Amino acid sequence: MTTQIHVHVFPTSEEVAAAAAERIATVVREKPTCVLGLATGSTPEATYGKMIELYHQGLDFSRVSTFNLDEYAGLQCDHPQSYRAFMEERLFRHLNLRPWNTHVLNGTTQFPALECAAYEQQIQARGGVDLWLLGIGQNGHIAFNEPGSPLDSRTRVVALTPSTIAANSDGRFFADPKDVPRSALTAGIGTIREARQLVLLATGQKKAEAVARALKGDFSVDCPASLLQDHRDCTFLLDEAAASLLKS
Ligand code: GLP
Repeated sequence: MTTQIHVHVFPTSEEVAAAAAERIATVVREKPTCVLGLATGSTPEATYGKMIELYHQGLDFSRVSTFNLDEYAGLQCDHPQSYRAFMEERLFRHLNLRPWNTHVLNGTTQFPALECAAYEQQIQARGGVDLWLLGIGQNGHIAFNEPGSPLDSRTRVVALTPSTIAANSDGRFFADPKDVPRSALTAGIGTIREARQLVLLATGQKKAEAVARALKGDFSVDCPASLLQDHRDCTFLLDEAAASLLKS
């Protein structure tokens, strides 16, 4: 498949973050009641810093709703490595978002299937996601949709692969692989593809292979990010290191 994905390469990761935040700001200005999809991980942290700067310059988030991609199963929302805690710390508490407009899947629910179905309904009830910010795993995963995740997958409970457990316990988040939950709740590929605009961020050499597979490889569940190739409005914002395998 010839990809429709737009690719912008920037000299530094800071410029990637500025470009991502500006895209988000454009949506918020055009539609103050917009719905943003958000991601966790190291990559979007700088973008969240830029969003906070834009808020201090007057950007209003008071009517914006947010939905996060995923959450670890079994972690309480106030566990420091939960994605809810990550978002509160890095973004939510710094903006004028209303708490009831921020949505992160509940990793400790007794009824995960209901939680996942309700999440899909909440997204629909708010009119769908206007822009979903994404990262990419070293194995090409998006959110916690690991290789093999179906194109039409919806929000659900998934098992994490050993490579994702290792990547998330390299000292940045969890100190030890045994501390990383073995499963998670995640928006599906089908859920993510329904967003009106997708913006995927990748920085650093470690992401170069996954980025090349996503953009130049087959449209295949073997590389979940490649399943964005036919999206009508998808942009990859990359630094030079993450883009380094695209030229060959
Ligand atoms: C986790 C998250 C993904 C994220 C990925 C890459 O697995 N569930 O949503 O894209 O990590 O994270 P990082 O930006 O830290 O490399």
